[in-house]
Amino acid sequence: MSDTAPNRYHPAHVALHWLIALLVFMMLGIGKFVMPGVSPDDPQKPMMLQSHAYIGGAIAVLLIIRLVMRFTVRRPAAADAGNAFLNFLARAVHFLLYLLLIGMALSGLGLYQMANLQAVFNGAQPYPQNFFDFLPRQGHGLTSWLLLGLVLLHFGAALFHQFIRRDNLLARMWFGK
Ligand code: HEM
Repeated sequence: MSDTAPNRYHPAHVALHWLIALLVFMMLGIGKFVMPGVSPDDPQKPMMLQSHAYIGGAIAVLLIIRLVMRFTVRRPAAADAGNAFLNFLARAVHFLLYLLLIGMALSGLGLYQMANLQAVFNGAQPYPQNFFDFLPRQGHGLTSWLLLGLVLLHFGAALFHQFIRRDNLLARMWFGK
């Protein structure tokens, strides 16, 4: 086996990256802009939240697999954004993306326990009128704004590499030889 770093991420890592990106994009969009508009008395609301909770759990599992791969499977050398500060920023954003997603999953799990969501999903308990009565809800909301900001930075950085530096960095996170 050669010692040189590969040109691309492992295909399983690529698949996980885009699957997690799609799920997080859906969760942020629906969680921020659709769910708040549905009244707690709407009969559809528990089902919406149940899908949200299960997709959130799935993101956490996929993230753990991805983190294990991050430290066990060889990956391309760190990208060069052309300046030391931008290179530092890239490392910080990647680290924080992992950290905030873990924070979203843990605060969601805290809400699941504290608001006894299993009983809400079974129909044994009414839908809570206000989740902000439970402490993890503040963390979940604040973290979601930070996550949204970071996702936009990450997206902007990908465009910067692709169209300004023209180094075709996106190809590293896609399938191929
Ligand atoms: C990592 C994955 C997750 C993401 C990206 C995510 C995203 C969001 C977002 C954006 C909101 C709206 C926040 C706001 O605007 O204040 C929200 C609300 C909420 N999420 Fe999550 N979430 C995740 C995981 C979970 C999990 C695992 C659970 C439960 C098991 C959960 C339960 C809730 C609850 C109860 C609310 C409040 C709904 C309401 O106020 O009516 N979330 N989530």
